[in-house]
Amino acid sequence: MTPHQATSYPDFGLTPDERRFAVRGHYYETPGMDGGRGEIWCYSDRFSYRPGDVVRLQVSATASSFSIRIERDGARLTKVFERHGLKCHWQDTPDQCSVEGCGWETSFELTVGADWPSGAYRMTLTAAGRGGAEIACQHLIIVASQPGGRPGRVLQVAATGTWLAYNTWGGSNAYQGITGHGRDQYARMVSTQRPWCRGFVTLPADAPRVPVEISVPPRTVPRYPHMEWALATGHSKKYASAGWASYDGHFFRWAERAGYAIDLASQHELHFSPEILAGYDCVVFVGHDEYWTWEMRDAVDRYVEQGGHAARFAGNFMWQTRLEDEGRRQVCYKYRARAEDPVYQTGDVTRATNSWEAPEIGRPGALTFGLNATRGVYAGWGGCAPRGARGFPVYRPEHWAFAGTGIYYGDLLGADGHVFGYEVDGLDYEIRGGLPHATADSGAPDGLQILALGLASQVEESADIPLEDQFLSDEDGRFTAETLFGEASDENLERVKRGNGMIVNFGRGRGEVFHVGSCEWVAGLLQRDAMVEKVTANVLERFLRA
Ligand SMILES: [Fe+2]
Repeated sequence: MTPHQATSYPDFGLTPDERRFAVRGHYYETPGMDGGRGEIWCYSDRFSYRPGDVVRLQVSATASSFSIRIERDGARLTKVFERHGLKCHWQDTPDQCSVEGCGWETSFELTVGADWPSGAYRMTLTAAGRGGAEIACQHLIIVASQPGGRPGRVLQVAATGTWLAYNTWGGSNAYQGITGHGRDQYARMVSTQRPWCRGFVTLPADAPRVPVEISVPPRTVPRYPHMEWALATGHSKKYASAGWASYDGHFFRWAERAGYAIDLASQHELHFSPEILAGYDCVVFVGHDEYWTWEMRDAVDRYVEQGGHAARFAGNFMWQTRLEDEGRRQVCYKYRARAEDPVYQTGDVTRATNSWEAPEIGRPGALTFGLNATRGVYAGWGGCAPRGARGFPVYRPEHWAFAGTGIYYGDLLGADGHVFGYEVDGLDYEIRGGLPHATADSGAPDGLQILALGLASQVEESADIPLEDQFLSDEDGRFTAETLFGEASDENLERVKRGNGMIVNFGRGRGEVFHVGSCEWVAGLLQRDAMVEKVTANVLERFLRA
């Protein structure tokens, strides 16, 4: 924390009522929202493609023609395609498009060039608005590489399951929605067949991240600058929770600029084509990475067993999802899984779309990545450790990951970049002789070392925060209490509410896992925090060499 840090929240010109709506209200992208100005929207038939594949773009616009520019978003922004005068028209959108998909007809097809390097490709569509001013939208596709040997290259798997769960376009996501009789329920199924919400592809540099950057005075009612900014500027309420712009893109660009040869894939490929991992010495996962399928975990577990190296610089390994309709629909009943997910009655309950730590699933996240979501959770926002660690308190500075950083026992790693938050993953632990050890019943893999450890909370501390001002409250804590121990009692809440976030390392089979269990690690790369860059480089270099 800098000595001159502000002690009041930034202000984006909203009234108190608007500020409340920004946090409590439900606002989202929907056709017709821009009224007289007109609109253009676009989605593609898939999230990712390989060279030679045909990309089908579905466009709906108030204009009759549009232009498209496609740029690869890597170390440099490189234009690869541009076309003008393409035909489009306004297409009807079903009310429940977030769940069912938009169902628009294809407006334009293009073939991914054989010479397009793997990466993220930003599409910008522009057209004439009704009043003459330009209207625009953005879309993003991933170009993966062809399977085969890729020695010396890193594969980053984008957290597209989480992007999809948070996508606000059309009114429903895995958090809020317009489903159910009262049109007030979150979506238990979300479709890939809809545009990305505003702020998932690009963001201005001054868009706030979730962790609060002020020194919070005592007994302060929490505010949420990212949601206030979203409402004030017309961005998605969830822009800071998921997406290429807030998370995955920062890592990819940093890695290319630092000289690493890096490819990109989507989680859909991990699910449907697990063989994509085989040729890589190092696979990375980044950012807010909350939704996984059983098959994706199988792919990573097998890869590591057989000698692969997985580095996860990401937090919140929370929910099991199922993919249906050839991957176009992602299912996650979440809090209602035990009541409503049909696998509890008629199917294989290990595939329940519940927390990975639900005992009936029998596959806690720690079995793959060493840490669990419900032992971690919130840090640095709301009433959850708002004056907390900011960086990772380091316990084992002699570990290879810290070589050349100059970091010592008790130092904070990444505090300048505020890498600790806003959701972290942890384990039950005990301190012996000043060093943390995973407890015997923590579920930690054999040989796991805890390198760094900071505190988090699953429950908003409520003594100074009136109920109507609590955003996080104890809802998640009660859910975890019930999921793990059968009942959402005060006693069980007490057992789950104190969390932590860790950096851990362990070997499995012939391979190895390194895991920084925090969403915000990329914020340290973005800030060019030297210690965060060095640790990241140490991990990539060891894994590429091994
Ligand atoms: Fe999350």
